[in-house]
Amino acid sequence: MSSNDSTPQAPADNAAGEGRPAGMSKGLTSYGDAGFSLFLRKAFIKGAGYTDRALDRPVIGITNTGSAYNPCHGNAPQLIEAVKRGILMAGGLPMDFPTISIHESFTAPTSMYLRNLMSIDTEELLRAQPMDAVVLIGGCDKTVPAQLMGAASAGLPAVQLITGSMLTGSHRSERVGACTDCRRYWAKFRAEEIDAEEVADVNNQLVASVGTCSVMGTASTMACIAEALGMTVPGGASPPAVTADRMRAAEQSGVLAVEAARNRLTIDKILTAKAFENAMRVLLAIGGSTNGIVHLTAIAGRMGYDIDMRALDRMGRETPVLLDLKPSGQHYMEDFHHAGGMATLLRELKPLLHLDALTVTGRTLGEEIERAGPGFKQDVVRSAANPIYREGGIAVLEGNLAPGGAIIKQSAANPALMEHEGRAVVFENAADLAARIDLPDLDVNADDILVLKNIGPKGAPGMPEAGYMPIPLKLAKAGVKDMVRISDGRMSGTAFGTIVLHVVPESAVGGPLAFVQNGDRIRLSVARRELTLLVADAELARRASANPVKVPTAERGYRKLFLETVMQADKGADFDFMRPAQARGSIPSR
Ligand code: FES
Repeated sequence: MSSNDSTPQAPADNAAGEGRPAGMSKGLTSYGDAGFSLFLRKAFIKGAGYTDRALDRPVIGITNTGSAYNPCHGNAPQLIEAVKRGILMAGGLPMDFPTISIHESFTAPTSMYLRNLMSIDTEELLRAQPMDAVVLIGGCDKTVPAQLMGAASAGLPAVQLITGSMLTGSHRSERVGACTDCRRYWAKFRAEEIDAEEVADVNNQLVASVGTCSVMGTASTMACIAEALGMTVPGGASPPAVTADRMRAAEQSGVLAVEAARNRLTIDKILTAKAFENAMRVLLAIGGSTNGIVHLTAIAGRMGYDIDMRALDRMGRETPVLLDLKPSGQHYMEDFHHAGGMATLLRELKPLLHLDALTVTGRTLGEEIERAGPGFKQDVVRSAANPIYREGGIAVLEGNLAPGGAIIKQSAANPALMEHEGRAVVFENAADLAARIDLPDLDVNADDILVLKNIGPKGAPGMPEAGYMPIPLKLAKAGVKDMVRISDGRMSGTAFGTIVLHVVPESAVGGPLAFVQNGDRIRLSVARRELTLLVADAELARRASANPVKVPTAERGYRKLFLETVMQADKGADFDFMRPAQARGSIPSR
């Protein structure tokens, strides 16, 4: 086959400028001779059989996060094929490439420890490799935040493609899905309500297909947030992983990425203050995972914005929970899709949204809601007049135990415990909890408050989802289902209970939580947004000087970088050096 064009000329790296997309000539490797750099690049890629005609097209990267360790991304090969089809249909050249992939259950000490690493990996590969736009394929909890953080910093046009939720299974005629039901059945097993044979049976049914957790956990929350931000195709949040609708969303993502490249629809035009406010509304209205706040804060931080937690709480008081999904409600993600997905929810939320926020389609959120057509009868998304919960799912607490704030998912909490004072039963760290929580002689009663220290960003490290402390075995066996639990860690979005999380500052850096002792009294008032340690300041100061906190350090590697630079939960637990130099203010601004 003869060559079908001439030797390349020295190109202009015009990715950020006017004219046609830079394609393969973007970001040339530095050899001191731009013409030679492009000549060499094309020579190598032609080794894979490409023609100059193909190489002249806008280049669209596709992040391949398929991994044998990540069944939540088990449909990645099919998605990539569909995205490529869309890119080729629209006249682009698809180039898929691997990045880090993170699954919740296959990463130690916790997936959150690697989220920032994945964001850096994504950002640098978006910067280093020639591409005019990118389709980000993510799904499992930390992947979508990491990709949006990385893409926000890289500044390219980007489309987020969600892998989609798993199907639900059936256990002895009861519908089940990961992972609210995982926790429920494990709690039954611990309480000896079911035997080892049954818990083994249900283990086969909880995850019925590849895809992300089927309830409103962190993955589903981030999928909805990504769509609310305008970063996905319309309706891109809800199709299950193995459906034709999901593959069509993938194809459409490819088409949109080419159009975004041609129109220079860079991510900063989408991730605006209005878009973040819309996402905060949606997070509250879906009864979303508490992790959604940390991730949204981190993504906003990459664009130079702070999330105002007090304002978020005010928004919560006027934003009802409308989505009837577990763990706050009763349905699963596939039911949400059958009910019309995000269009149904956004239609109900319209009065509270910035309808003029731009999306990756090049149209506004309001235009996309109109294009979705009228609603229809369904029972998954409630009307604002008949909500699941009259306030937003998440409340922000303050007090001397959490001077920088803490949160509680009130829509998944026990109303009887939301105004509660009790005696602290303290665990120094996750290992201490594991060693003692089930001891028969543990001094604990149902109205005590369990306190777990050292599971914050620096403490564990990585802020693991250990905030959902198990009910002590002797109380579980006695039928106790919920207790007030307080920590500086996170909990899975699929979990439920009266659980206070994200205490700032964390105990590992000397926050007041570090100085709570067994027997101290603590008062929680969700109505007053109060979290108070009923110990005098002077006594706390005495304890601090008697037992000063030793902030964790590491000698080398990623752990050293992590411990030296990770910020607190109210800054999204991002690395301090990843935020842009220029701050743009707080969200919401009003
Ligand atoms: Fe991947 Fe739940 S474990 S989404």
